[in-house]
Amino acid sequence: MVTSSAPGKVYLFGEHAVVYGEPAVPCAIERRARVTAEEIDEGLVVHAEDLKLDGFTVEYMNEGGGHPAVDAEEPLLQAATSYVNEAVAQVRDAADDPEAGFEIWIESDIPLGAGLGSSAAVACAAIDAGCRELGIDLAPAEIADRAYQVEAAVQDGEASRADTFCSAMGGAVRVEGDDCRRVSGVGNLPFVVGYDGGAGETGKLVAGVRELREEYGFAADTVEAIGDLVREGETVLGTGDTERLGELMNFNHGLLAALGVSSRSLDTMVWAARDAGAVGAKLTGAGGGGCVVALDESDAALTALKYTPGCDEAFRAALDTEGVRAE
Ligand code: MEV
Repeated sequence: MVTSSAPGKVYLFGEHAVVYGEPAVPCAIERRARVTAEEIDEGLVVHAEDLKLDGFTVEYMNEGGGHPAVDAEEPLLQAATSYVNEAVAQVRDAADDPEAGFEIWIESDIPLGAGLGSSAAVACAAIDAGCRELGIDLAPAEIADRAYQVEAAVQDGEASRADTFCSAMGGAVRVEGDDCRRVSGVGNLPFVVGYDGGAGETGKLVAGVRELREEYGFAADTVEAIGDLVREGETVLGTGDTERLGELMNFNHGLLAALGVSSRSLDTMVWAARDAGAVGAKLTGAGGGGCVVALDESDAALTALKYTPGCDEAFRAALDTEGVRAE
C-alpha cells in the first residue's frame, strides 16, 4: 500500500483562454489531495473523503455494481468518479496490465470543482500511487502528461495542460499549448482564497466559452485580450510589483466575466476583497461558483471575506513549490 499527494492551484492569470492556445500562469498552493493505492485481485474500489471542505464520503465498487453513497450533486459526483476511473486506466496502461485491480482511498483538502484544481491533484496523486504500488516510478513530466489525458477524457477533449502540469510540478508554471515550463523567481505571493461553498462544472463552462467564442467576435477578442494580459503579467512576475500584478488580475476577472463564467457570489467576493484593500482579485479556475483569489499582504481581505455573505471559507494559500510526491 502506498500513498502519494499532489497540490491544488490558483490561476494568477489565463484560465479558459489557455484552452485556445493562449498562455496561462497557474500557481500550486499548499492544499493537497492524497491518494492511497493497494493492489487487489480484480476490479476497483474507491473510498473518497473530504472532497469538499466540509467533508463527505464516497464509496463505490466501480465494477461491482455499487453506487456512491453521498449527498453531493450528481454531476459533480459523476465527474469525481470519472477522474478516478480514467486515472486508474492510465495506471493500467503505464504498467501494461489492463486487469490490475485496486482499492483506492482519496483524501483531499481541496474543495471539489471549486477552481482549485482538485481533479488534477487527484489524477496526479492517483497515477503516482497506482504506478508505485505496481513497482513503476514515473517522472513528474510523465505523470503530468497522463493526468492531462485523464482531464481531456473526462472533459470531452476540452482541457488544457495547465492544471495537471502545475499539480505534477508544483510552484508557478507557464503553459501555452503543449509548451509547459516552471517559472522561477516568483517568490511567495500573498494569496487569499475565498470559497462560496459551491462548484462549477468545468466541462460545461469550457463548452459555454467555446460556443460564445464561435458566435461572437467580442468573445474571440476577449480570449486574445486575456492572452495579451498574461504576456504582460509575465514581465511583472519576479519584479515584486504586486500592485501591478493585482491590477492585471482585476482586468483578468473583468474579461472572464465578459465570457460569462463569473457568478454573483464570485463577483461579491472579488469586490469584498478589493474594498478591503486587496491589490487585485479574480475568480480562479473554470468559474460558475467556487473560489476567488486575491492578493493582499495584510489580513484585511481575509477578514473581510470571512464576514462576506455567501463566502463559506476564506484562507491564506502559500505557494507550494513541491508537486506530486510520495508520502
Ligand atoms: C479549469 O481549472 C481551467 C480551465 O482553463 C480549463 C482547462 O484549462 O483545462 C477553465
